[in-house]
Amino acid sequence: MQIELKIFRYNPETDSESRFDTYKVEAQPTDRVLDSLMHVYRNEDGSLAFRKSCAHGVCGSDAMRINGRERLACKTLIKDVAEADGDSILIEPLRHLPVQKDLMVDQSEFLARFKKISPYLIPVDKAPESGEYIQSQLQRDAIDDATKCINCGACYSACPVLEINPDFLGPAALVHATRFIFDSRDTGLDERIAVLDQPNGIWACDNHFECTKVCPRGIKITKLINMTKREIKKRKGE
Ligand code: FES
Repeated sequence: MQIELKIFRYNPETDSESRFDTYKVEAQPTDRVLDSLMHVYRNEDGSLAFRKSCAHGVCGSDAMRINGRERLACKTLIKDVAEADGDSILIEPLRHLPVQKDLMVDQSEFLARFKKISPYLIPVDKAPESGEYIQSQLQRDAIDDATKCINCGACYSACPVLEINPDFLGPAALVHATRFIFDSRDTGLDERIAVLDQPNGIWACDNHFECTKVCPRGIKITKLINMTKREIKKRKGE
């Protein structure tokens, strides 16, 4: 089938405003959108900028908006977003982050918010004699969903709260905080709660569920955020 890719283009160094360029591409329904982007890059316009690395839904680098919804280009099949010959697919960069070039966004602020919640295990001072921090299956299950995050930024882009409050910590950082708050081996609860228990922290989340809808890993983000909200309230005796 032949499809039309309508791609957002903008180079802040040379362009006064953004535009959409259209490319006609031959594709199979089972091809991935990433394959079509690569085709354009290799055969039609080598100046097109986008990120990709693993091409298998693991690294999270090719998150973008495809037909108005946050998706990984490597996990989105043409047939998921175009039904008939000649159909057009709209491809845009993630929202809420500055465009570096075309479909590439500057992730600095997104990553800075991760840093705030100390996204690493803070273990007890003295390691167990065995050298291993053993967890029961139940303890592991408590954090399993949150460990699936690949930092792609899809939830950050889809979040309606960030549209009106750009200082909101954002769903991805909250998921990572949850991942460690409920980890039986972690001791950083108080310092993480101090970051979350703020007007622009976890309480800014209004339960829109948009993050959950777009997460390419199927993480129940809103549920995890609410779990952490309840834990904070419990700690504060509310
Ligand atoms: Fe790694 Fe798509 S390129 S997730």
